[in-house]
Amino acid sequence: MVCTDVDVSRVERLAGGQVPIVEEGLPELVREGLASGRLSFTTDNADAVVHAEFTFLCVPTPQGGDGRADMSFIQAAAGEIGPHLPFESIVVNKSTVPVGSTKVVERALGRPDVSVVSNPEFLREGSAVHDFLNPDRIVIGADDESTAIRVAGLFLRTSAPLVVTDPSTAETIKYASNAFLATKVSFVNAVAAMCEAVGADVRQVVLGMGSDPRIGSDFLRPGPGWGGSCFPKDTAALVRIAEDAGYDFSLLKGVIAVNEEQYQRVAQKAVKLAGGSLQGKTAALWGVTFKARTDDLRSSPSLEVAARLRERGAKIQAYDPTLRASIPGLDVRDDPYTACDGASVLVVGTEWDEFRWLDFDKVGELMVNKAVVDARNLLEPATLRRAGFAYEGIGLV
Ligand code: UGA
Repeated sequence: MVCTDVDVSRVERLAGGQVPIVEEGLPELVREGLASGRLSFTTDNADAVVHAEFTFLCVPTPQGGDGRADMSFIQAAAGEIGPHLPFESIVVNKSTVPVGSTKVVERALGRPDVSVVSNPEFLREGSAVHDFLNPDRIVIGADDESTAIRVAGLFLRTSAPLVVTDPSTAETIKYASNAFLATKVSFVNAVAAMCEAVGADVRQVVLGMGSDPRIGSDFLRPGPGWGGSCFPKDTAALVRIAEDAGYDFSLLKGVIAVNEEQYQRVAQKAVKLAGGSLQGKTAALWGVTFKARTDDLRSSPSLEVAARLRERGAKIQAYDPTLRASIPGLDVRDDPYTACDGASVLVVGTEWDEFRWLDFDKVGELMVNKAVVDARNLLEPATLRRAGFAYEGIGLV
């Protein structure tokens, strides 16, 4: 396996066995591949593909200004490798691309003998290695059966169900899957808001709902809203794809709107617990990544909440176990306690397990007002209240 990237320093680090992101099991896998000689890294795209029967495209498709996916990286990569691909090889597209993009890649390659296949990826950050090795399904979108069979041969070691279809359907499966998961989270966040209004406990509601196998308990954890490098851009892109095709995906627009409201709802809870105003006060923020077990800050709900707290005049002192660099607008601290120094409210923005086991008497002594907004329902409310904290979770009585 030869990996190529335009980022020289990234390639250099990887070639030296250093993985530049937090991802469980990945450093071991990379070092093992390097040591066995089965894995190498280069910045020479032509060199990387020249002997490859299969070339995987895994380039980013960020959100463009109009909500549509930006295809420029994938087009540039395809244009560059096109002349160097072996005769009748296969380009497998793993990037999340708008429906119909296989044709765009085909055009950019300029190689009628090379087949382009859509093979969307469903792995989650934080458990990417596990998800890759234990997939729930393999989706292959190909224009002809013989190409699909060649690609399917790559996945013989998994027992996951194989969905062989056309490229547009495969691309739609990817968007629809992420949009559905985002819908589940927005739904439970809306139910949590309702629980607060009627005096119900969302944790029990989810337990009751999730036992029905038709509903399932996964992705029903209320929180500060969904974020990350995929859900926000993919839901926005799907709304645009539908719009361009003449369908108003109003359900998904509602899902996105509920998510925006959720950031606001968490910020309002912080204002309330800080005594009605955050003007000139300090808010502590525990966790800034978009979820635990990653160092990814892209579209982090925690940062969205922080921005809304700042709009209300708060100064933010933040701590995250993976945060090494400074972030504009945040006073980043080295440990969770000093983040609480002089704070009028503490917001738990990411569900890092270590936050459960901290000394809350010490936290309380450092704060000027003992108040916690637990946006991940991570802590034990009774313990916090016994320690003299005002406590608010999401959808709790
Ligand atoms: C997501 C999908 O889960 C993967 O299947 C997909 O392959 C990936 O996007 C992608 O398209 O590349 P990921 O972005 O790693 O994976 O994050 P998730 O674990 O799905 O979480 C997304 C957001 O939803 C996070 O902010 C998380 O905290 C939030 N969430 C998730 C909740 O608030 N509650 C839940 O119950 C689950």
